[in-house]
Amino acid sequence: MVKICCIGAGYVGGPTMAVIALKCPSVEVAVVDIWDKRIAAWNSDQLPIYEPGLDDVVKQCRGKNLFFSTDVKKHVKEADIVFVSVNTPTKTTGLGAGKAADLTYWESAARMIADVSESSKVVVEKSTVPVKTAEAIEKILSHNSKGIKFQILSNPEFLAEGTAIQDLFNPDRVLIGGRETPEGQEAIQALKDVYAQWVSEDRIITTNLWSAELSKLAANAFLAQRISSVNAMSALCEATGANVSQVSHAIGKDTRIGPKFLNTSVGFGGSCFQKDILNLVYICECNGLPEVAEYWRQVVKINDYQKSRFVNRVVASMFNTVSTKKIAILGFAFKKDTGDTRETPAIDVCKGLLVDKAELSIYDPQVTQDQIQRDLTLRKFDWDHPIHLQPVNPTSCFNVDQVKVVRDAYEATKGAHGICILTEWDEFKSLDYNKIYENMQKPAFIFDGRYVIDADKLREIGFIVFSIGKPLDAWLKDMPAVV
Ligand code: UDX
Ligand code: ADP
Repeated sequence: MVKICCIGAGYVGGPTMAVIALKCPSVEVAVVDIWDKRIAAWNSDQLPIYEPGLDDVVKQCRGKNLFFSTDVKKHVKEADIVFVSVNTPTKTTGLGAGKAADLTYWESAARMIADVSESSKVVVEKSTVPVKTAEAIEKILSHNSKGIKFQILSNPEFLAEGTAIQDLFNPDRVLIGGRETPEGQEAIQALKDVYAQWVSEDRIITTNLWSAELSKLAANAFLAQRISSVNAMSALCEATGANVSQVSHAIGKDTRIGPKFLNTSVGFGGSCFQKDILNLVYICECNGLPEVAEYWRQVVKINDYQKSRFVNRVVASMFNTVSTKKIAILGFAFKKDTGDTRETPAIDVCKGLLVDKAELSIYDPQVTQDQIQRDLTLRKFDWDHPIHLQPVNPTSCFNVDQVKVVRDAYEATKGAHGICILTEWDEFKSLDYNKIYENMQKPAFIFDGRYVIDADKLREIGFIVFSIGKPLDAWLKDMPAVV
């Protein structure tokens, strides 16, 4: 029986390993983590991450050929294939601060693998890493004194949260990069055999190590670039009276462009896009390509611009001040159908409003109060450290009394001056906006950063409506936002 161990029981490691266990009954899969609470949750009825369909998959395999454990060393020692899916935060100090990946956790995982191994293993990079990480890891692994041979592979994950299980069941492609040596090819084949149990061979792409590592960064950079492109258009639409949905629809009909990833928003979030682009920027700079670096950096700059543009629009429309005004925040997760808040645009929008002394009442169907409080006090990039190592910034920009986290949208909006919709949860489409309007201060404002509401219907009710990228209400034209 092939034994697989995955170090890191997070958003990537957990679902990916659960699907491997389901699709490969002859493989024994152990998912290990140093975070004991997370492992306890994986072993309970309340899984640590919310992902449609995940519960079912875990229930079918857990205790049979899928195990969650904190005994990292034991399972690594026994495994034939070790996936590494640990945190790769952006460095906040030293060389490459604000751009380069901090490989501390990766390096310590690699040293541990070298220490505990008693037999040869295939080590697979699963978490996104900078190009040439494999080379560094290979050096750490091959400098063990025991003569054990390790083959390193890059097998980046392309799943998107919210659709992770579907993406894993039916991936557009599986990418496996390895050394172009006979041993490297053998390792590629071993991993290919695992995926081939449910993915057709024509969807399994094999490349050299560096192409696989770079393809992951490139894929995320291209996707994020489309969003920044349409978000840049949204600003122009507001200025000219064009409608960004109509523009997206029109350009997306061109089969060379295609319709996906053309939804304008308050900004992209998630654990990958910004981090991977900054990484790409750093790699370009290190390789003497400042123009290429600047090109990609602009994708992140437009994303930051989109978030601050939104905040400025809120403040400007409400007579240039939100001080002591209650603002309801509907949605905090970085997109619908997930409880994940990593790099969610809601963090920057809320911080922007808090600096202007707003009182926030936040509702998200999947995000806990603890998580929201932590997100608003953590410094930029600090979220991507294992939980027990996350520093908390004691000098946060707001007073805790300024933020309330509530249990539903009606409570959040009661007595509010304005509403900001920051995540496109389906339930926000079917709220009783007549009732909400009645219970709000007047004039009642709604700022839709996600195209959730029917702007015309809400205007009929009496709301002053801002919908990102759409023609502006007369009120908003008279109150221009300055960025
Ligand atoms: C992304 C990639 O899609 C996935 O392939 C990779 O493995 C990890 O990063 P994820 O972060 O889970 O996945 O979510 P995704 O659906 O790509 O959305 C990212 C962000 O972009 C979200 O905040 C989303 O709301 C935003 N977005 C997406 C838009 O603003 N407009 C769009 O048209 C699409
Ligand atoms: P991703 O979205 O890439 O899955 P997460 O942050 O959700 O990332 O998960 C990474 C996990 O890796 C965390 O649960 C963290 O505790 C775990 N981790 C980090 N370093 C180690 C290590 N050396 N050994 C075991 N687990 C680790």
